[in-house]
Amino acid sequence: MERHTLLLIKPDSTKKNHIGAILKIAEEHGFIIKELKIFQMDHEIGSKFYAMHKGKDFYEKLLKFMQSGMTVAAILQRDDAIHELRKLVGKTDYHNTKPETIRRIYGESITKNAVHASDSVEHAKTEIKIIFPDFSY
Ligand code: CMP
Repeated sequence: MERHTLLLIKPDSTKKNHIGAILKIAEEHGFIIKELKIFQMDHEIGSKFYAMHKGKDFYEKLLKFMQSGMTVAAILQRDDAIHELRKLVGKTDYHNTKPETIRRIYGESITKNAVHASDSVEHAKTEIKIIFPDFSY
């Protein structure tokens, strides 16, 4: 069971001042914030982070959006972190996910879907390394 995962609070949410509210939901669900960073994604980081989506029809739009404002990245810790955060975040398509999920509350479109959460142990490790290269478990 993986204890760490990565949460990104995307530019749509940071622009609307939802950083505190989203981190509060995570803390209320038992996550401990181990690392926290606010930054503006550039093309280099964005293309590394979303390499698995290269070539898909939404890729260029996604990269442009992710560079359009500030992003908050958090390494979150709890038991079964990846699975539990994915449940809390909800499905990619914000209006097609469960009512109490972060994307349903704060998302506004399939691209501007408020947050990103790692979907597997392999991706969590890669994504943490890209945003927090010095993090040690
Ligand atoms: P995220 O979890 O960050 O992973 C990839 C992102 O691409 C996704 O959230 C959305 O913001 C964005 N995206 C836009 N269109 C699509 C789509 N049709 N399918 C999946 N992801 C999409």
